[in-house]
Amino acid sequence: MNKAAFDWDAVWNRKGREDTELKALCGYNHVENVNIDKIAASIISDLEVKQEDRFLDIACGGGFLSSAILRKAPDIIYVGTERSAVIARKHRQTLGNAVLNFSAHEAVFHDDFFSHCLCFSAFQYFPSHDYAKEVLRQMLRQARRAYIGDLAIKSHDDSHLLYKQDEVVSWIMDICGHKASIKVTEGHFYTTRFNVIVHRP
Ligand SMILES: C[S@@+](CC[C@H](N)C(=O)[O-])C[C@H]1O[C@@H](n2cnc3c(N)ncnc32)[C@H](O)[C@@H]1O
Repeated sequence: MNKAAFDWDAVWNRKGREDTELKALCGYNHVENVNIDKIAASIISDLEVKQEDRFLDIACGGGFLSSAILRKAPDIIYVGTERSAVIARKHRQTLGNAVLNFSAHEAVFHDDFFSHCLCFSAFQYFPSHDYAKEVLRQMLRQARRAYIGDLAIKSHDDSHLLYKQDEVVSWIMDICGHKASIKVTEGHFYTTRFNVIVHRP
């Protein structure tokens, strides 16, 4: 499959127009036994989120994970961004969160505006590794701590963009230098996925 030819935007916009419940709107309908509150707790712990911290959630989708994060840390200043206008609108209307219609690679906020930046389960939909590197650059520019979640090493879907752990770590070191703390953890749903947590100086 030519990944560049696959139109993920059409898939997400269609999902956004359907009358579907939150879990399916965020693409988790095929994943069994999702404990989203446990995942949110682990993200909050890895990022060391505190009350009143500014938290940017890139590719936040309809808000399945965002809701769990806000249940666990209701006092953060939350902003989501989402490429699909229809999904961003649905998220705002149903959950009332601050959600802007931007793509992940766009430079929206100034340097270090946020304490934390999360991008969970979206890197597989990106068009290329160059695009993914730009997203990492933007994440680590806007926040000192970043959680890149659910990167696929292998996938059931051959139109997903795949990643290698060592390669992603080396991209991050190129962006923020060798003094950054970079932790790689196993995926929350599958052993063929991984997460990267970065605390830059
Ligand atoms: C699997 S959902 C995950 C949503 C949310 N992060 C969660 O875990 O609940 C993937 C979302 O990424 C969005 N997305 C895909 N490519 C994107 C991009 N380049 N920029 C921003 N959002 C993107 C899709 O529109 C979709 O809403």
